[in-house]
Amino acid sequence: MDYLQIEGIKSLNGTIEISGAKNASLPLIAMTILAKNSVNIKNLPDVVDIKTLLKLLTNLGASCDFEDDKVVVDTSTITETKATYDIVKTMRASILVLGPILARFGHCEVSLPGGCAIGQRPIDLHLKALEQMGAHIDIKSGYVEATAPNGLKGCNINFDKITVTGTANIIMAAALAHGNTTITNAAREPEVVQLCEILNDNGVAIEGIGTAILTIHGTAGKCIDIKEFTVIPDRIEAGTYLCAGAITRSELTISNVEPKHLGAVLSKLEEMGSTFTTTKDTITIHPSSDIKPVKIVTQEYPAFPTDMQAQFMALATQADGVSIIEERLFENRFMHVSELQRMGADITLNGNIATINGKNPLSGTDVMATDLRASSALVLAALVSEGTTDIHRIYHLDRGYDRLKEKLENVGAKIQRLKE
Ligand code: EPZ
Repeated sequence: MDYLQIEGIKSLNGTIEISGAKNASLPLIAMTILAKNSVNIKNLPDVVDIKTLLKLLTNLGASCDFEDDKVVVDTSTITETKATYDIVKTMRASILVLGPILARFGHCEVSLPGGCAIGQRPIDLHLKALEQMGAHIDIKSGYVEATAPNGLKGCNINFDKITVTGTANIIMAAALAHGNTTITNAAREPEVVQLCEILNDNGVAIEGIGTAILTIHGTAGKCIDIKEFTVIPDRIEAGTYLCAGAITRSELTISNVEPKHLGAVLSKLEEMGSTFTTTKDTITIHPSSDIKPVKIVTQEYPAFPTDMQAQFMALATQADGVSIIEERLFENRFMHVSELQRMGADITLNGNIATINGKNPLSGTDVMATDLRASSALVLAALVSEGTTDIHRIYHLDRGYDRLKEKLENVGAKIQRLKE
């Protein structure tokens, strides 16, 4: 296993280019199951989760040619409709193939994803919505077995709770359904918006894109032709590097970003004392003399993202005062707290609320990455710690941050990837 060794107290300077969004790429790759042609996707991040989903599609019989940041996916050769445990257990987002496979082939088996480091993460809302569309669903021996031999039928679906992959799954199922499907309380994340836009551009009319009510006009079982497209920039990767600029009080430019996807993140950074210069696709964060404390509540887009909670907690450890962070989406997304405490942070947890007493000096030590975003919080803390920090179990980082070591090294961080 590899680990990262980071030397602290370094300021950064330069430009970091943001990669395509992992969480947009995953549903967009799953969407190729709806296509009758081979689909070219550009600006994919080179991260393990993308390779995992491509492997899943390859196991089903598709051909996937991934080179640099481009992939060509041909799903016309799919013969299997079962996503097996060995892959699903490594990546919960594998559930994204359920909607499109069921819609195209009339049957699909997907291993139940099981628990996860950040919470229980059930998929009941995905399954309930597919049942409303006429699917028959059984849970047998740890697998979801879904059948709809005569195709899925459009209907009205009201999600009890906003779910990002649930919305994406049902949009893809509805794309090939008979009739129209209206989803109320749909997720409005930019990643869901891009999925809708690509489908809408390629023969599946969708009304209400970017709103909480979507109407998808199904093609009655006909697969579609999907033209080449480019994945949107990763707003969470961008937010993470902006936090790197803020915590090290550096001038750092983030390029290939979509600033309008970062509204809540930029506004919290501003509250914490950061200033920015923004162009159409770059954001430059300027060094600030003081980091101010902040109050954050994680919620669905366009509110503050849970995927930035851990990174802001690292930043809050250096703020001049007491910050409060409330996690509303995942019941267990505070695994980074005990690791930050080991580095010297003063954090108290009370249920889903963390109180961070800022400006405690941090010192480098051995810490363990526990999930993707928790890992990036440890990287941020390590950048301002006295001495050297060894971050273990970095396979979590490899799942979602494209070339993190190289990107930080290019702007002056002292960071090495070593073998245990
Ligand atoms: C997506 O997960 C992201 N993953 C997550 O990013 C992100 O943290 C999350 O959305 C919230 O923004 C991908 O896009 C691949 P949800 P998802 O369904 O879709 C509950 C990262 O670090 N719920 O929107 O799985 C659920 O338990 C990852 O990149 C149900 O109760 O999240 C949670 O409390 C981690 N039943 C809430 O809804 C369901 O059927 C939101 O989850 C589905 C969800």
